[in-house]
Amino acid sequence: MKTEIKKPSYEVLCEAAELIKKGEVVAIPTETVYGLAADAYNPDACAKIFKAKGRPQDNPLIIHICDLDMLKNSVKEIPPLALTLAEHFWSGSLTMIFPKKDIVPDTTSGGLDTVAVRMPDNEDTLNLIKMCGVPLAAPSANLSGSPSPTTAQHVYADMNGRIPLIIDGGECKNGVESTVICFTDGGTGIKVLRPGVITAEMLSRFAKTETDKNVFAKPDENEKVISPGVKYKHYSPRADITIIETDSDEKLAEFLNSKNDGGTYGVIFGSEKGIEVPTISYGSTAQEQAHNLFAVLRKTDELGAKRAYVRCPEKTGVGTAVYNRLLRAAAFKTIIL
Ligand code: TXA
Ligand code: MG
Repeated sequence: MKTEIKKPSYEVLCEAAELIKKGEVVAIPTETVYGLAADAYNPDACAKIFKAKGRPQDNPLIIHICDLDMLKNSVKEIPPLALTLAEHFWSGSLTMIFPKKDIVPDTTSGGLDTVAVRMPDNEDTLNLIKMCGVPLAAPSANLSGSPSPTTAQHVYADMNGRIPLIIDGGECKNGVESTVICFTDGGTGIKVLRPGVITAEMLSRFAKTETDKNVFAKPDENEKVISPGVKYKHYSPRADITIIETDSDEKLAEFLNSKNDGGTYGVIFGSEKGIEVPTISYGSTAQEQAHNLFAVLRKTDELGAKRAYVRCPEKTGVGTAVYNRLLRAAAFKTIIL
């Protein structure tokens, strides 16, 4: 299959909508990362998403809506808290989990009786959803296990030959995936299953908010997790990633220099001195780090790095999203200096 990359003109959105109505898969830009989209109500189309990604069948998809009617059409119950959050954070990077209606097939929900829903903050993609007239199921548009794509070129690198069309909306604004939450205490509390740029602190203004323990911990082998995505190794380039936790620039430089063997790279904040191995900066604020993380992980492969040591981000606010992705990219390997 030939994979085309096209900028989102009206004609291109019409072409994408036709493909989706025919049951095909199209890569779409969102403000978080690129998604691999198909008609959420069509099980055969959604099966093609799993195939293109090489994704385990039990890992459910997020459905992307353009208005609240699509939400009401897809889910059984909407707690009032969800409507309040929708009003404040949609269109935007908040994904909420609801009991699903039968119209959402098991293929889409990974066999769960719930479905994850969000309204993306991207005008072209919102228009595309409207043209399709159905929600679009879309996981991140990477091969399963690889870093999520934040440019159309990243999508092409993973999906060339697997899908007909990539809509090129430029670089994604946020760079990490949406915050995934479920409701607790009969719909009055919030539990964060995956952190994103909408932080637990921001959500706690609206309701009691807790963070699921699997956000920062490795689930046990046989544990039944709420969000199946947390149990897979994820976001990993070919290079072996290790997190370095330290407050000391000198200790960081000393450690990296002791690994100076040609294959080692340091991924740092940008201001550290005295480092002799090649370095890549991923930005000095948590927002910049979120924006750059996946591109930097992909870059380690482009550079042929065998190993990359990534300086640990802060563990509050948006930093929690960066740290959560990094832990999985590193398969939880951490060195404290
Ligand atoms: O920003 C995003 O959320 C991007 C863009 C494309 O919208 N999408 C995305 O999808 O990151 P994906 O499939 O890569 O990640 C979805 C996460 C997975 O960890 C999955 O297990 C979880 O959401 N999830 C989806 N449906 C769920 C459900 N019903 N219950 C619990 N977790 C769910
Ligand atoms: Mg993903």
